[in-house]
Amino acid sequence: MRTVAVVGSQWGDEGKGKIVDLLAADADVVVRFQGGNNAAHTLVVNGEKFILRLVPSGALHDGKVCVIGSGTVVDPFALLEEIDALKKRSYLNGEGRLRLSYDAHIVMPYHRAIDRAREARLGKGAIGTTGFGIGPAYEDKMSRQGLRFDDLADWKTFREKLERNIKEKNLYLKAVLKAKPIDGDALIAATSKLRRRILPYLCDTGAFVAEAARAGKRILFEGAHGTMLDIDYGTYPFVTSSNCVASAVFAGGGLPPGQLDATLGISKAYATRVGSGPFPTEIHGRLGDKLRSEGGEFGSATGRPRRIGWFDAVLARYAVRVNGMWGLAVTKLDVLSGIDPVKICVGYMVGKERYDEIPPGRHALAKAKPLYEEMPGWSGGLNGAKSLEELPANARRYIERLGQLTGVPIAMVGVGASRDATIVLKNPFRD
Ligand code: IMP
Repeated sequence: MRTVAVVGSQWGDEGKGKIVDLLAADADVVVRFQGGNNAAHTLVVNGEKFILRLVPSGALHDGKVCVIGSGTVVDPFALLEEIDALKKRSYLNGEGRLRLSYDAHIVMPYHRAIDRAREARLGKGAIGTTGFGIGPAYEDKMSRQGLRFDDLADWKTFREKLERNIKEKNLYLKAVLKAKPIDGDALIAATSKLRRRILPYLCDTGAFVAEAARAGKRILFEGAHGTMLDIDYGTYPFVTSSNCVASAVFAGGGLPPGQLDATLGISKAYATRVGSGPFPTEIHGRLGDKLRSEGGEFGSATGRPRRIGWFDAVLARYAVRVNGMWGLAVTKLDVLSGIDPVKICVGYMVGKERYDEIPPGRHALAKAKPLYEEMPGWSGGLNGAKSLEELPANARRYIERLGQLTGVPIAMVGVGASRDATIVLKNPFRD
């Protein structure tokens, strides 16, 4: 297959970065199609750790073209920092390796200020955003006040629009949010300085991706966040502000509809969530703490401790449906070693009613009581396993059960942090 999307099937942090990095070896082009630097994809390559927020994970392979598509919102200051850090480590070198859509929207410091001030005012009712200004930037896009990279080409008009935005946002920050306004002059000066560095990356990425698909190139679409954080399909309002599901590759990545060959969903062997919102299988107390520390479950973007839970087959089936999944990669199986028994949520009780599929009306999720199936655990390190046969029998049974419950083939199993600690059962680019 030639065009493949990788999407999260939980609340983000499923380990997509590692799987994208692995698949990128077979791809010609890697495309981010939504979100911004609220994403943070952690990869370990040759013992070195990388955290990529905006640049697609294909950057760590020679010769791949990395595309940041029109559905994204991009903080140009953060992007340049990331580019510089990659170049310093000898990645992303060469002409045309990174292409940024003219149509992507620019995240400005006033978006960050609004995001943070709003969250502070919400107190206990806060969404728990990353604070990177993603929601306010998408708001400006939808209300047609946003600044796009395209606008940067003409500095005079851009400056006028930016001044207008600064004035309005500062008024809102002061009068409504009772927060400190941003320094408009400093922002204009800084933007004028970065402009020359950004312009060479700009590209009509829609045309580029469509042409690459027409020419039969292998294209990997790298989703950020996860299905349950999707603005339409997730646990609204505790979601991010973009569509994170596979259908977003068309609008946000430039692939003509109908040309996506496969979607690979990524799920941890357990579940995590950062920020507020319903989480039916959440584990509190010592067991949750143990998994958090064994799995290093602290936000890569914000450092916040992640909430921990059991694998939720009801939500996984939902993610299989809304993404039209071809296969599922299960990551971090090694983290469950030493836990006995392991549990899988197979249904919910909401009041007196049993649900085997997601209950209608997402508010019901907040009241859902999970029904668990228990399986005997296993122990010992799994790193080095190259096939399911090399796993302890109970770990293998656990994976097989996830396949049965989700109704989709298990394509990969992650057994450690590094690029090669992955059992590959099916590779969409090689099938
Ligand atoms: P925002 O995307 O910063 O507006 O945050 C909205 C919600 O999405 C919050 O609960 C965040 O913690 C969550 N979120 C956003 N991006 C990610 C991610 O990449 N991984 C996990 N959670 C995320």
